[in-house]
Amino acid sequence: MSKPKVLVTRRVPQECLDLLKKHFELEHYDKGTAIPRKRLLKSVKDKDGLLCLLTDRIDSELLAAGPGLKAVSTFSVGYDHIDVPACKARGVSVTNTPGVLTESTADFTWALLMAAARRVVEGDAYMRGGRYKGWDPLMLLGTDVFGQTLGIIGFGRIGQAVAKRAGGFSMRVLYYDTRRAAPEAETALNAKFVPLDELLRESDYVSVHTVLDEGTRHLLDDRAFGLMKRSACLINAARGPIVDEKALVRALKSDRIRGAGLDVYEWEPKMAPGLASCKNAVLAPHLASATLETRRKMGMMAASGLVDALICGARSPYAVDEQPA
Ligand code: GLV
Repeated sequence: MSKPKVLVTRRVPQECLDLLKKHFELEHYDKGTAIPRKRLLKSVKDKDGLLCLLTDRIDSELLAAGPGLKAVSTFSVGYDHIDVPACKARGVSVTNTPGVLTESTADFTWALLMAAARRVVEGDAYMRGGRYKGWDPLMLLGTDVFGQTLGIIGFGRIGQAVAKRAGGFSMRVLYYDTRRAAPEAETALNAKFVPLDELLRESDYVSVHTVLDEGTRHLLDDRAFGLMKRSACLINAARGPIVDEKALVRALKSDRIRGAGLDVYEWEPKMAPGLASCKNAVLAPHLASATLETRRKMGMMAASGLVDALICGARSPYAVDEQPA
């Protein structure tokens, strides 16, 4: 019997490819860049399954171009690039990689927070630029982390993992979400549910961990930056469009807020004009889950989603509509 046909749209860890090769006839776009849209639409034509990334838009046009598609598996936890209702309407299963990148993403959020708070990147440039002439009591002063207030927007798996680490810094933790967490989680994490505006006013660090949808697009805008403390930093390792990036550049340039740590961008991979020259922003190229261990796990999970749907004919535990909101 011939194997189901699967398109892999990007370079992925070898273990993931090995698992896919066991079960599927593969077409692999392995050029190290996002697959061009035209090529994606062409290659999907005769495929049963698709292993895609958050850089691929999975919409009605793509589903029409691949009439035989039965399963789409994304190598990411976020699936805002996939029109899930359109997939559902055509009976196409959608799976993602929940859980396996929670801790690495929370770790990286802290890397951004610490780097922004303590001006680590500016210090690095200072050293490399040969500008360090000896210890100076007023050189590159940052802001305290220990004992400060952390405001977490979006208190799902990743938001809670970030809160857990705040305990080590004796921080006061506030959170905002559309739904309040269970009392046991609040107690365990020592986190207080507050309205968004109160969180913005009170926090020294505001960290974004919500999904991107129409309710969260530009949640952080001029108004929000106007409410934040002038000494506060914004951290975003969730999705770029949650932050109005032009408004953020205005806030950073006018010292309306003190700094930012960003891993995601509104028009990724591009940045808003002026952002690159903001010395008070720490900028990373979407690295939050980028550890060897996590990317391997994500690859195996993404491949398993396709095996569940196309070989076992079973509902995958990684199906997006099986997961708690
Ligand atoms: C990364 O941003 C992911 O959604 O996995």
